[in-house]
Parts: sequence; C-alpha cells; structure tokens
Amino acid sequence: MHLYGQCCDLTAVKAVCDKHQVWLIEDAAQAIGAEWEGKRAGSVGDFGCFSFFPSKNLGGAGDGGMIVTRSAEHADRLRLLREHGARPKYYHSIVGTNSRLDALQAAILRVKLRHLDRWSESARQERRPLRPAVRRLAHRTAALAIRARATSTTST
Ligand SMILES: Cc1ncc(COP(=O)(O)O)c(C=O)c1O
Repeated sequence: MHLYGQCCDLTAVKAVCDKHQVWLIEDAAQAIGAEWEGKRAGSVGDFGCFSFFPSKNLGGAGDGGMIVTRSAEHADRLRLLREHGARPKYYHSIVGTNSRLDALQAAILRVKLRHLDRWSESARQERRPLRPAVRRLAHRTAALAIRARATSTTST
C-alpha cells in the first residue's frame, strides 16, 4: 500500500512477491501520479487499485474506483466480476458483484484528472516548509523506539 502521496519500497515488495510467486497488488489510492523508478504507482505490480472516494487525491462526488492491469486475461476476468459474473447478460458463470463505475462519477473524474498533476504539485509546494520538522520528528520517534526496545530487552 502506498501512503501519503509516496510509493512504498516496491523493489523490496516485488522481490518478496517474485520469491513466493504471488501477485503484486498495489493499493495506489493515496499515491496516484507518484512514481517508483520512473513508473507510476499502480503500474509496477500485476494489479493497481485506485479509490475515487471524495477524500482521495483524485476524488469523485461519491464512491468509485478502478483496477488497472497489463494482462488481457486479468482484465477480462475483472470485467466479468464487475458485472455480476454474467456474460452474456443473465448468464452467470461465476459469482460477481455490481462494481460498475457510475457514468456521472466517470464524467466528473475525467474533468478532474486533467488538473491532477497541477494540484499534486501545488500540494507538494505547500507542504515543503513542513519537511524539516517532519524529518526531525521521524528521527526523534525512531530514537525513542530504539531506546524503548533496548530498555525492554535489558529489563527481562
Ligand atoms: C490507501 C487506501 N486504500 C483504500 C481505501 C478505501 O477506499 P474505498 O473507500 O473507496 O474502498 C482508502 C480509504 O481510506 C485508502 O486510503
């Protein structure tokens, strides 16, 4: 899961997935547009998931989401699942769900998408002055955690 507009260490996560031969499913809802080694969040793994809940970086006016994949086979399966597992209509080969993106949400998201890079950049600029304080806080928290661990191991 990518958080706070930043990608997690995908190289490490991918190595674990490759080792155990499991799919890498990225939750990129909080990092849409962020990059990992030149690739956009959600495009590194087998699947990339995005929530378009209104509070997200790219938010609609209600619930919505998207899954991306490079695999035509996976995309076909997801399309089937999205429409109650029915193909053709009323012929259900698997149990699916109703996960179609509402057309009204899609229209809103399509317009907002054009502004996403600019909005993300301005949010980055606004938060820039906070960086040194956040870094100091992170160092202090790490030092406290190390001290707490050392104390708990010496007192047992
Ligand atoms: C990273 C992340 N993934 C998923 C979700 C859930 O999204 P949804 O409510 O659209 O299922 C959230 C919402 O808080 C989130 O922050």
